[in-house]
Amino acid sequence: MNITDTSDLWWKSAVVYCLDIETYMDDNNDGVGDFAGLARRIDYLADLGITCLWLMPFYPSPDRDDGYDISDFYGIDPRLGNHGDFVEVIRTAKDRGIRVIVDLVVNHTSDKHPWFVSAKRSRDSFYRDFYVWRDEPPANEQPTVFPGEEASVWEHDPRTDQYFQHVFYKHQPDLNIANPRVRDEIVKTVGFWLALGVSGFRIDAVPFLIEPPDGVDLGDPHDFLRDLKRFLQRRSSDAALLGEVNLPFAEQLDFFGGERGGELDLQFDFMSMQALYLSLARSDPSALRESLAARPAVPDGAAWANFVRNHDELTLDKLSDAEREEVFEAFAPEEYQRVYGRGITRRLPPMLDGDPRRIRMVYSLLFSLPGTPVLFYGEEIGMGENSDVPGRGAVRTPMQWTDGKNGGFSQTSPGRLVAPMPGDGYSPEHVNVLKQRNDPDSLLQFIRHLIRRYRVSPEIGWGELELFETSADGVLAHGVLSPLGRMIALHNFTAVPVRTRVEIGAVEEGTMLLDLHGPERMALDVSGRVELELAPYGFRWLRVSPPGDTRIG
Ligand code: GLC
Repeated sequence: MNITDTSDLWWKSAVVYCLDIETYMDDNNDGVGDFAGLARRIDYLADLGITCLWLMPFYPSPDRDDGYDISDFYGIDPRLGNHGDFVEVIRTAKDRGIRVIVDLVVNHTSDKHPWFVSAKRSRDSFYRDFYVWRDEPPANEQPTVFPGEEASVWEHDPRTDQYFQHVFYKHQPDLNIANPRVRDEIVKTVGFWLALGVSGFRIDAVPFLIEPPDGVDLGDPHDFLRDLKRFLQRRSSDAALLGEVNLPFAEQLDFFGGERGGELDLQFDFMSMQALYLSLARSDPSALRESLAARPAVPDGAAWANFVRNHDELTLDKLSDAEREEVFEAFAPEEYQRVYGRGITRRLPPMLDGDPRRIRMVYSLLFSLPGTPVLFYGEEIGMGENSDVPGRGAVRTPMQWTDGKNGGFSQTSPGRLVAPMPGDGYSPEHVNVLKQRNDPDSLLQFIRHLIRRYRVSPEIGWGELELFETSADGVLAHGVLSPLGRMIALHNFTAVPVRTRVEIGAVEEGTMLLDLHGPERMALDVSGRVELELAPYGFRWLRVSPPGDTRIG
């Protein structure tokens, strides 16, 4: 593949920023963020340097699962604005070089969706077969995604005396993917938002979506994803599919479409995210190194989406029970900081006791790993959670813009806010955009710098991962290698300074190492051996620069 022009596969070197309209910026001061508010913040996002905005669900919804319970796939929640406001955001973002992708939540609908309302009315409803009904729950019932909140994935409907399936909450009945009409509706929904200018979709709960109902043979369930990707390519030359697939690597590869690709373009790396926290808890990068070593190469054109935190619980479901316990003890010692027996409801900075060295080391790592970094709003300023809000809501508090009323998010009275602000050391008084904008040493400026660095180093997004041995146990040394260039990165997971030897293999005589976060240049001997120092929780990015290298970035 010729990769001098990387624009067609923009997602391979994008910086994605996820936000929820309702908690980002409130323009009409009713306490709920809105599209008009976001439109006023596009310049902030452009200045931060992100290149792709991922909008969490903004569709009409009873809002019993933060909008992931949709009652109209084509609508806009009237609290947030209308289609005109939506198009203004897309247009303004595009003008500033930012693409917009939107959440596609089609594994289920809300039980208030007109399809389900009709389906429930009678077994003869035209929409009955849009959902999954059984006289009795199957013998091998699959476990619920929300243990402690749901007991079963089958709910009895007394009116028509059958059970319907809901892998998530009982107010989220599963759509029947085996019904061709349902597939057509999903494709039509995709076509609709593409026509309004979006550049792709973050597909919710993909493995559940394509799984055929119990006892139904659909042939290869991946056919649907392939069809969806083909449809996308026909309608738009540059739209991407980013999938939520929290499965072991080997299974994730199938969701890229195997080695040939043709399904999802991007998938979150849930495995390495979980290993990262285990490594942080142990001050030892081995677990992360193992995960990265096991991470399969992606097919041409596809990419891993790297992330540290998202809007859900920090799931630790892929760790062993003992490992999960270690992470719980280190980062969520209190029961109220945990949820579903598998996850943590905190943001990163409070988990790391606000230690700026450790926090920066983690984000340096995020932006240096091969793949596409994804930020959750507020990470760039180090927002904390509000532990008074139960469950996943703790990390879904309003964006903190200033130290003024409601953190500058809304001028309404605090009691009317869509979610309460965090208190203590993480309140808007301490953590806000305005303060950090004016402080060159702030986390915001640091993240902004990382984003710039990532954007002028396309080898990171396009590169193959390399892992190197070091002489210091606490240090992760990895590299990215691509025809666009080569870079090595070192991260110290310990609280002590270290001096370490790294060997990257033979290089051409005259090859230099250029520090990408400072002025230092070092000669590398032909055997590719180098000794480096790292501060406590320190990190370095070094470009391997062969003789005659003309890059300036
Ligand atoms: C995904 C979302 C989560 C939501 C669930 C059901 O896992 O990330 O927030 O609750 O799907 O739609």
